[in-house]
Amino acid sequence: MANLLYIGGGYVGGCSAAASADSGHNVLVYDINSELVKRFSSFDNKQIESALFEEGLGDLMIRNKSRLSFTDKKEDFKNFIDKTDAVFMCLPTPEKDSTGESDLSYYNQAAKDLSEILKTRNNNTQEKYILIVNKSTVPIKMTNITKDIMDEVGVKNYGIGSNPEFLVEGKAVEGSIRPQRIVVGAYNEKDFEVFRDIYKRFYTSPTVSYIEVNPQEAEAGKLLANFMLFKRLANCFDVVGRTCESFPDLSMENIRKIITSDKRIGDWGFYNSLFAGGSCFIKDSRSLVHQLEEKGAKTDLIKDVLGANERQLQNFMERPERELDFDWKGKKVGLLGLAFKRHTNDIRNSASLGLTKFLLEKNVEVINAYDPVAGKNYHDYFNNNKLINLSQDEISVIENSDVVIIVTDWPQFRELTSTIQEKFFKGALIMDGRRMLQNKYKELSESGFDIIAVGSPLIKAK
Ligand SMILES: NC(=O)c1ccc[n+]([C@@H]2O[C@H](COP(=O)([O-])OP(=O)(O)OC[C@H]3O[C@@H](n4cnc5c(N)ncnc54)[C@H](O)[C@@H]3O)[C@@H](O)[C@H]2O)c1
Repeated sequence: MANLLYIGGGYVGGCSAAASADSGHNVLVYDINSELVKRFSSFDNKQIESALFEEGLGDLMIRNKSRLSFTDKKEDFKNFIDKTDAVFMCLPTPEKDSTGESDLSYYNQAAKDLSEILKTRNNNTQEKYILIVNKSTVPIKMTNITKDIMDEVGVKNYGIGSNPEFLVEGKAVEGSIRPQRIVVGAYNEKDFEVFRDIYKRFYTSPTVSYIEVNPQEAEAGKLLANFMLFKRLANCFDVVGRTCESFPDLSMENIRKIITSDKRIGDWGFYNSLFAGGSCFIKDSRSLVHQLEEKGAKTDLIKDVLGANERQLQNFMERPERELDFDWKGKKVGLLGLAFKRHTNDIRNSASLGLTKFLLEKNVEVINAYDPVAGKNYHDYFNNNKLINLSQDEISVIENSDVVIIVTDWPQFRELTSTIQEKFFKGALIMDGRRMLQNKYKELSESGFDIIAVGSPLIKAK
C-alpha cells in the first residue's frame, strides 16, 4: 500500500484518485476549489455527481472512503507529505491566449507550493524519497521545468516521472479501473519500481498494456495520440461527411460499413458530428503546433485538422441560410444537449458554446436549452443570459421552438421522433448535429419537417 497525494481533483485527479484508493492505496486529494472538496467529502452520490458527473464515480468514492480524503487546506497537505510515496500533479494546462502555448501557471503555482512543503518534510531532513508525477497533458519539456522549480528551493531526495492520463470523459471511471494502457515515464529503475508498486494491480494484468518509457516519450506519446484521434474525427466530418452531403444517394451509415470493414482502417471515430469539442483534442493539437514551430518544423497537417473541425461547425450553422433561405432573426431555437459529449457535464469547447454565440449574433428571440446534466455549467458560462431559457426537458424545448438542433449524442434523443411528430409544429426545421434520428429522416420529412443533418444533403418536408 502506498500513500499518494493528488494535487488537483478535477476530471483526471478525481477519477484517478478514486481508482488509486480502489487499488488499496491511501489517498489524499488537495484542491483549491473548496466547493469541489466539500461535495466530494460529503461521500454522497448526488453531491459528488453535481460537482463532477462521471458514471460510477460516486459509488467508487463511497466504496473506498476509508482510504480516500479531500482537502483544500495546506495544513492537511503538510501533515500528509511526511509519509507520501508519490505526488500526482493533475492541474489544468489550458491554452494561453490562442497561441497554442500551454498556460503552465496553474501547474507552476502548484509545483512551487509543493516545493516549499517538500523542503520541510521529515522535520527538514527530507529523508523519505518521493516521486513527483506529471499526470496532466503537458509540453515535452515539463519534467525539466518541474525539476527546476524543486531545485530552486533546495528540495532533495526526489524523482520526477510522467504518467499521462488517457481516460475518456463519460467513461472515465471504467477507464481508470480497467485501463487499456498505462504509460509511465521515468529516468531510472528506482522510479520505475515506485510506479510498478503503485500500479501493481495492472502491471501484471494480461489485459493492460503497461508501457515504460522515458518522461519525454510519455509526454509526446499523449499529445500525439490525441492528435491521431482528432485527425480521425476531422477526416470523417470533412471528407466522408462532405461527400455524403454532396451526393443524394449516399447514406453515411452504408459508407461507414464499407470503409470500416477494412481492419487496417478500424471503426473508432467513424461517426459524424457537428464538432469535436472537449478539453483535450483542440488544446493538445494546438500545443503540438506551438512546440513543433518552436523547433522550426512544418505543422500544416495539424493546422488543417484544426481548420476542418472549425469548418464543420461553421458549415452546419450556415446551411439553413444557404439551403433554405432561412432567417435566424427572431426565431426560437431549441438546443438538445449542451455537454461536449454524452455522459458528462463538461462543456469545455462544446459545440453548444459556438452555436449559442452564433445564434446570439443572429438576434434570435430565445434559445431554449436542455441537457440532462450540463445545464448549470452552460448557463453559468453565459452568465445567466436572459435570452437563454434553461428547459426542464426535451419536450418543452420541442414545444417552444421553431428550430430544434440536436447538439449532444445523449442516447435518449434517439427516441424523439414521436414527440417531434406530436409537439413540433409542421414546417419547422430539425437540425441533427449527431445523426441521432437517421433511421427516421424519411418518416419525419413525410410528416412535414425540413431536416438538415450532418452527413446528409438537405431533406425537404414532403
Ligand atoms: N478531462 C479529460 O478528459 C482529460 C483526459 C486526459 C488528460 N487530461 C489532462 O489532465 C489535466 C487536468 O485536466 P482535468 O480535466 O482534470 O482539469 P480540471 O479543470 O477538471 O481539474 C483541475 C483541478 O485542478 C485544481 N487546481 C487548480 N490549481 C490548483 C492548485 N494550485 N492547487 C490545487 N489544485 C488546483 C482545480 O480547482 C481543478 O479542480 C489537463 O492537462 C488535461 O489536458 C484531461
